[in-house]
Amino acid sequence: MAENSNGIRPLVAGNWKMNGLAAALTEAAAVRDALPSLGTGAPEVMICPPATLLSQLASTSRGSALAVGAQDCHPSASGAHTGDISAEMAKDAGASAVIVGHSERRADHGELDRIVQAKASAAHRAGLSAIICIGETNGERVAGLTLTVVERQLRGSIPGTADKTNTVIAYEPIWAIGTGLTPSPNDVAEVHAAIRKNLEDRFGADGLSMRILYGGSVKPSNARELLSLPNVNGALVGGASLKAEDFLAIIRAYA
Ligand code: PGA
Repeated sequence: MAENSNGIRPLVAGNWKMNGLAAALTEAAAVRDALPSLGTGAPEVMICPPATLLSQLASTSRGSALAVGAQDCHPSASGAHTGDISAEMAKDAGASAVIVGHSERRADHGELDRIVQAKASAAHRAGLSAIICIGETNGERVAGLTLTVVERQLRGSIPGTADKTNTVIAYEPIWAIGTGLTPSPNDVAEVHAAIRKNLEDRFGADGLSMRILYGGSVKPSNARELLSLPNVNGALVGGASLKAEDFLAIIRAYA
C-alpha cells in the first residue's frame, strides 16, 4: 500500500467512545503486545479510551508502540467548566493526541465548527495532535452536498496552527458510523481527493503530508479495501476497536 500513501506513515486509531471499564484495559494490552511482531510497513497505532482510563492506559503503554489519545478537550486550559477536561490535562494524563469535532460531539453537544477549531487550537497549545473529524449526514449526501459540507467543515474547523505533525483529518460520513454501511470505494476516494486538494491549497507542502483517515464502520472484512485507496492514510475505528482481535485484524491490513 505504500504507493498510495505519499510517504505518509498511516495511523490506525481506535475510538472507544463511552465504552470500557478498567477490565477493558486487557484488550488494549493485547494490542500493545502484538505490535512488535508487525512488519516494517506497520502503521502507527493509537487507542483513545474514555477519559477515566487515560492515565492508566498511558502508564501501561509507556515505552511501547501503542499511542494514547483523548476523545475531546475543552478550549480553555483550566477554569470553571464542570465535567470538562482540558488539552493540558489530557497531555498530563499521557495522551499524545485528542479527537475533536466527532459527529457525536457535534450532535450531542451542539459543537459548531468554530468550537471544534478552538478545541484543535487548544490541542496544539498543549502539544497534542488534533484528530479533527468531519463528515456529511445521509441527507446531505443524498442532496449532493457532500463536498460542500466537507469543505465548509475543513475551512471552519482547522486552526491556522495546523501542520503535518500536529493535525490529522478524519473523514467520517455520519451515516456510516456504527451502521455497518460504508461509502463505495470510489466515493471514499473522491472525498479524500477533495480533502487533500483543500489541505494543499491552504497549507501547501504540509497539506500534502497531513494524514487523512477514513472512519465509519471500518471492520476486518473491509479494512484492506478501504485503507488501500488513494489519500486514505489510515482509519478511525469505533466499534471494531473494542476487541483486540478485530482491531489487530484491521491494523494487519497494512501487513
Ligand atoms: P464505527 O465508529 O467504527 O463504530 O462506525 C467510527 C467512529 O465514530 O469514529
